[in-house]
Amino acid sequence: MSYVKKIHDLHIVRTCSQDFARVAAESFLGALKDCDTPSPLVTLPTGHTPLGMYEELRTHHANNKALWNRIRYLALDEYADLKPDDPRLFQNWLDRELLTPLSINQDRRTGFRSDAADPEAETRRIEIWLDQNGPIDIAVLGLGTNGHIGFNEPGAVFNHVANLIALSSETRQANAAYWSGLDHVPEKAYTLGLKPILDARKIFLLVSGAHKSAILDKVMNGPITQDIPASMLRTVPNVTVIADKDALEITHG
Ligand code: F6R
Repeated sequence: MSYVKKIHDLHIVRTCSQDFARVAAESFLGALKDCDTPSPLVTLPTGHTPLGMYEELRTHHANNKALWNRIRYLALDEYADLKPDDPRLFQNWLDRELLTPLSINQDRRTGFRSDAADPEAETRRIEIWLDQNGPIDIAVLGLGTNGHIGFNEPGAVFNHVANLIALSSETRQANAAYWSGLDHVPEKAYTLGLKPILDARKIFLLVSGAHKSAILDKVMNGPITQDIPASMLRTVPNVTVIADKDALEITHG
């Protein structure tokens, strides 16, 4: 495709399941320490995959508060049309899991307003914010079983900065487990687009579990295509895939 200037090898870190969270946390912390920005800008996923890593980071925070005091956080994605106190909001989830435990206060957080009256103005607000405060220093991503990163679903346009999108039925099904049934999963979501994700100075893609093995193989070895948004990660040089052996079972046989 014309927008693929160069194809890069993804750097793969293979772990056993027990070490996955620790390796992910250590890799993130290493990138943070290497970061020469005074206030590193990070974006982080919700979901099942990073939970162990977040637990490791909470433990790390207890003895390393100075490192965390510098961090700025930008939301990767957010369900749309929910009220600010809704527990399903990703900002509330991450607030509980990480942001408050790590003392990343509100003045260092930026995110989508789920209940924004004008979604176009809301995505524009994030675009302007990124223009003035970006780029992202470290992007940590999970991988959807359909190849999404953030909520850039199959077909996502590569040069978008921020979007309101309709969640695919596969993604809504996957999210149903978190909110006791499909009826509780919103139909739309905001997401950072592929552009600011791919422009991040350092990207970690976290993948665990055999159910991600087929899609991870396509991401790593299949065509680079907007039908598998994570395959676009092969167009930038700074991506590390941290995957457990179950997730790599197809790729590595
Ligand atoms: C959520 C996000 C998604 C998830 C992906 C994997 O904020 O960005 O891309 O990372 O759907 O979710 P889990 O980890 O639950 O398999």
